[in-house]
Amino acid sequence: MWLKAWKQNKVDSDDQVALDRLPRHIAIIMDGNGRWAQKRALPRSMGHRAGVEALRKVVKTCSELGIEVLTVYAFSTENWNRPKDEVGVLMTLLTEYLRKELNELHQNNVVIRTIGRIKDLPLDAQRELENSKKKTRDNTGLVLNLALNYGGRSEIIEAVKQVSGDVLSGKLGIEDIDEDVFCQHLFTHGMPDPDLLIRTSGEMRLSNFLLWQLAYTEIVIIQELWPDFEKKTLLESIKAYQKRDRRFGGIHTD
Ligand code: IPE
Ligand code: IPE
Ligand code: MG
Repeated sequence: MWLKAWKQNKVDSDDQVALDRLPRHIAIIMDGNGRWAQKRALPRSMGHRAGVEALRKVVKTCSELGIEVLTVYAFSTENWNRPKDEVGVLMTLLTEYLRKELNELHQNNVVIRTIGRIKDLPLDAQRELENSKKKTRDNTGLVLNLALNYGGRSEIIEAVKQVSGDVLSGKLGIEDIDEDVFCQHLFTHGMPDPDLLIRTSGEMRLSNFLLWQLAYTEIVIIQELWPDFEKKTLLESIKAYQKRDRRFGGIHTD
């Protein structure tokens, strides 16, 4: 098992990640698949394929480390604007990934969750997701949270609608609306906010990702393109996070 391998010290000793100060929740904007392919004069679809390999490795490392939640931005609400063929490839890769990896993920105690409007995805993908979530529901290890057809703004609007509905039906008073109540209506309900956000390919923007949840997240931008992201890159990002001084608006008094 992955976690056991880690505990048996099969991991490079010079990693120097402080295992007692790990981020509970890591979020990743997996960006740069297209450019990776372009650099090699390959079709963009090959970049996406290579991206899945990078994802497999990261999931394994996060599970070994004992990270609680890994959220990966796999498809944004804006990604529908891409050519139909490319959208099709991304959806096929998703179903393929789940079909191939589900058993190993399950054996390693991974829980699969999703955020985003899953109902608008192709039926094939919906079926695989449903099956994967059901199968891994009672696991207790890493939560692999797939952001699919996800948009931060539409998530917030959806939550506003739900809260308004509760007010109209008398279930909730306006004065009772607070951050905790609001969070319960987000796709991420029950999860801690991300401690660390990683974006690859050097882009410095959020692209509509977790707009509410990233309020106090530490951001690490990696120049490498997503398919080149390795275990080492993840460990470096965690080390960078561990050097940050998280003040949450306060000051140090000592
Ligand atoms: C990220 O890589 C994958 C998705 C957005 C689904 P891109 O496809 O955005 O790659 P670039 O940014 O064009 O290089
Ligand atoms: C963000 O990447 C979305 C995902 C990684 C799924 P994009 O490549 O779509 O973002 P922009 O267009 O560069 O902002
Ligand atoms: Mg991109």
